[in-house]
Amino acid sequence: MRRPLVAGNWKMHGTRASVAELIEELRQLEFPAEVEVAVFPGSLHIAQVVAGLAAGAVKVGAQNCAVQAEQGALTGELATSQLVDAGCELVLVGHSERRLILGESDEAVIRKFAAAQVAGLVPVLCLGETREQREAGATLDVVGAQLAAVIDALGVESLAKAVVAYEPVWAIGTGLTATPEQAQQVHAAIRAQVAQADAEVASGLRILYGGSVKAASAAELFGMQDIDGGLVGGASLNADEFGAICRAAGN
Ligand code: PGA
Repeated sequence: MRRPLVAGNWKMHGTRASVAELIEELRQLEFPAEVEVAVFPGSLHIAQVVAGLAAGAVKVGAQNCAVQAEQGALTGELATSQLVDAGCELVLVGHSERRLILGESDEAVIRKFAAAQVAGLVPVLCLGETREQREAGATLDVVGAQLAAVIDALGVESLAKAVVAYEPVWAIGTGLTATPEQAQQVHAAIRAQVAQADAEVASGLRILYGGSVKAASAAELFGMQDIDGGLVGGASLNADEFGAICRAAGN
């Protein structure tokens, strides 16, 4: 049995005051015990969130990391060992906003994924196709190549302590959600690709769906066989909505 995971990606949102409010609201929520819950604040607010949610059920992750675990001369970056020191347990790797807007390559994604694991963070590897790629019928090729880059470089075993998130780019922040069937098709393909290399790793791998997940759409998505939770952007900034999504993952 795979334990569902709901991860809230706060992106570049929040001030100390609004983050304090959100922490307080999250502290009031009761999350289903069977669901793992994590939030990914902006780096500036990681310490505040770790302190505010201390001893609670919610884990804290980072949205990005350096390509190395060790501290060093790399202006503006955060070593994965520093993220661990700050209280992070997970890190997003290869989010499409970083791949497409900031030009993050598969090579960088691989190095970040490896640096996360060296330091003991769980990488959440984000994969997804653009609208043009979907319309061209290339979805499974694109997602498969992004996944293969990591498997080829780091071995399929590296996925035993990782999470994958399928996030169709056309569904992120657009209000367009993949249908449960569209998402399931890609999730099943991801799992089959991993299974070709290692069936056990594949059956234990949690594959999250991301892209305009809302409380109203969550239950149906999470009801699909290969969807093991969600990576939630916009809706994770609203504690009630986020709580409802977490409850949907528990049903
Ligand atoms: P969204 O973002 O839920 O706002 O679409 C998801 C993500 O990019 O992780």
